[in-house]
Amino acid sequence: MSNKLLTALFAAGFALLSSTASFAADEKQNLADFHVEMGGCENCHADGEPSADGAYEFEQCQSCHGALSEMDKVHQSHDGKLMCADCHAPHDTNVGDRPECSSCHDDGRTADKINKQ
Ligand code: HEC
Ligand code: HEC
Ligand code: HEC
Ligand code: HEC
Repeated sequence: MSNKLLTALFAAGFALLSSTASFAADEKQNLADFHVEMGGCENCHADGEPSADGAYEFEQCQSCHGALSEMDKVHQSHDGKLMCADCHAPHDTNVGDRPECSSCHDDGRTADKINKQ
């Protein structure tokens, strides 16, 4: 786990202690708000403003979570093909959501099948 991820987890712990919002347990919270609790819009956006092509935001995801090539098989398969937000759109998906393969592939593949290969 990267130092930046550990720092963010630490900050999120304090956010939990100082508010009534629950960490990871609130299924209805979207990914953006969840990450805002760790340090604001600037965690992902330069000066809080979205970039035109999403490249800056993609770099921020990787600075905490690591690169696609360092993750499980589902993630590795998309290295160099997709950005995180193509599957985990921060403002449109919630904590606990699992991205569906069927939005892009129509052959019935699932994350579990690919990870077991
Ligand atoms: C986890 C990272 C993350 C955080 C935190 C985050 N955003 Fe975003 N935001 C994104 C990404 C990635 C996009 C690109 C569109 C997409 O794929 O959802 C985006 C898109 C946007 C857009 C473009 C319109 C849209 O919804 O697509 C606006 C405006 C925006 N963000 C504002 C904010 C503001 C204001 C905050 C803080 C309250 C914030 N964002 C927090 C990642 C984040
Ligand atoms: C092709 C779609 C796709 C892309 C692109 C993608 N993910 Fe995922 N992600 C998934 C799926 C599906 C899961 C749940 C199954 C799994 O973990 O394999 C997941 C799970 C996760 C989890 C939760 C793991 C857990 O503990 O449950 C995190 C964190 C995550 N992704 C981060 C990222 C980051 C950061 C990126 C970009 C570097 C990224 N993902 C890109 C599809 C994607
Ligand atoms: C400042 C560090 C930081 C940045 C930047 C960041 N994350 Fe996270 N993210 C975390 C931490 C900490 C967690 C909670 C622990 C975990 O699940 O790994 C988390 C959790 C997640 C999860 C799992 C949520 C769940 O369902 O439990 C996903 C998916 C995710 N992040 C995607 C992204 C994406 C996509 C981006 C970029 C748009 C991003 N993150 C940027 C630190 C960060
Ligand atoms: C946002 C669209 C998108 C989503 C969602 C998505 N993929 Fe992909 N996937 C792609 C693209 C684009 C490629 C690259 C295709 C190429 O290179 O021809 C790819 C390639 C792959 C590959 C390697 C090449 C192949 O076709 O065998 C695997 C394996 C894969 N995806 C599995 C999955 C799984 C499993 C899921 C669901 C967890 C998933 N994908 C979700 C867009 C997506």
